[in-house]
Amino acid sequence: MNTPHPQQPIGIFDSGIGGLTVVKEIIRLLPNESLIYFGDTARVPYGTKSDSTIKEYSVQDTKFLLTHNVKLIVVACNSASSVALDEIKSRTDKPVVGVIKPGAEAAVIASHHKRIAIIGTNATVSSRAYEHEIHKFNSEIDVAGKACPLFVPIVEEGWMDHEIAFLTAKEYLFSLKKFAYDTMILGCTHYPLLKNVIRKVVGENVTLIDSGIETAKQVKNILTEMNLLNPSNQKPNRKYFVSDLPHKFKEIGEMFLGEKIERITKIDL
Ligand code: DGL
Repeated sequence: MNTPHPQQPIGIFDSGIGGLTVVKEIIRLLPNESLIYFGDTARVPYGTKSDSTIKEYSVQDTKFLLTHNVKLIVVACNSASSVALDEIKSRTDKPVVGVIKPGAEAAVIASHHKRIAIIGTNATVSSRAYEHEIHKFNSEIDVAGKACPLFVPIVEEGWMDHEIAFLTAKEYLFSLKKFAYDTMILGCTHYPLLKNVIRKVVGENVTLIDSGIETAKQVKNILTEMNLLNPSNQKPNRKYFVSDLPHKFKEIGEMFLGEKIERITKIDL
């Protein structure tokens, strides 16, 4: 293995633009780091696809990042992290960080009553990946999952504060009510943008865990331990690549990222 260098970029991939919510947290915590982002916009969503297809796509996404000589790979997509993490790790000797373990660990710490609800795509919820990670930390915790697939198009439509978002959240989350959880994992890249609506439905007493924030913390810890934090104060290089440039991409991307995206490059995988 080539010894990684602190000035190499961090590579991040997602099924589309949702992973920019994770990028936003990485930029907030690690402003000196250069980044290479790849969003597989031509093949999004992953969350409705089979495990074998998600694995195949995720390996291709990883190979693309590796061509950019990244020092660490972040799998920002919850669906890919849930079903393809081992497959990705087997293809590289670079450190690979998924969003499941950091989110699960934060939820275990937050849940005083040991009852955690998980919401995500169909792929994430049916994989039970969050549940497995939670039980590695504490096997006595009760877990309930609920797939909320309509949240993804609602966010991409920009309807975060719309009545439709509220009614959809109410409908999806109603069945979880009797489970009496005190902590909920927002297990999908898009859901942090629905935090206000979800908060209105679940009430003030539930702790909402944003896996993106927790993942950024873990990335910082790993880079610190490996002496790979970029010490330079020069303006970092952030490059955004996608496999398709859909309509309104820049507008929606900037909404996820919370800042301007200067240039987006379309590539063929
Ligand atoms: N990025 C995906 C996730 O976090 C959501 C969109 C998709 O289904 O691909 O699971």
